[in-house]
Amino acid sequence: MMAKRLKVAVLISGRGSNMESLLKAASEPSYPAKIVLVLSNRPEAPGLEKARQYGIETQVVDHKTYRNRESFDGEMHEILLAKGVEFIALAGFMRLLSQRFVEDWRDRMINIHPALLPLFPGLDTHERALEAGVKIHGCSVHFLRHEMDTGPLIGQAAVPVLHDDTPESLAARVLEAEHQLYPLCLKLVAEGQVKITGGNAQVLAKSPGEILINPIYSS
Ligand code: GRF
Repeated sequence: MMAKRLKVAVLISGRGSNMESLLKAASEPSYPAKIVLVLSNRPEAPGLEKARQYGIETQVVDHKTYRNRESFDGEMHEILLAKGVEFIALAGFMRLLSQRFVEDWRDRMINIHPALLPLFPGLDTHERALEAGVKIHGCSVHFLRHEMDTGPLIGQAAVPVLHDDTPESLAARVLEAEHQLYPLCLKLVAEGQVKITGGNAQVLAKSPGEILINPIYSS
């Protein structure tokens, strides 16, 4: 008999390419999580149509129609509970969440951020990485804590920064890594392979040790 799959909601605000990477992974019956709902705070988010194409239920909670953050979050919370959601994956969800919501979903909500946290929290991460001259950049998947872009890190993927990169070319390279990292991290969490101790997350699954070094030499 197949093990019970974790019921996940994906929260989006826009394009939804990370959402799609999760939907693709979860369309495999052996994947340990099932996406039961895609929720957007923006009615015009292109990701909504993509989700429907995968046959996934979508809902919109338009933040502009709520008097404050708490009432907006409260409405989302009710919908998530009504759908039996057990876990949340934020995928380009561009609203700050209230302390109450973050606490209600503590250790049951993850996010993907386009930088190697704790470097470059916030917006414009690729521009800032280029300005700082870092040689390795990437993305991080982490549990949420109240302060933006903090919380126990589950996994990170690194990409090289090339001398002729623009914010756009670097963003595209990082995005490709995001699409690999996010489904992997959600899988590890859903399998119960991630344990939070103190402020950190430990991945129990065995993975090969590797060293990542950039510069990459071209002949
Ligand atoms: C991604 O770069 C993600 O890391 C960040 O917002 C962007 C969303 O892109 N949180 P998409 O909507 O998943 O395509």
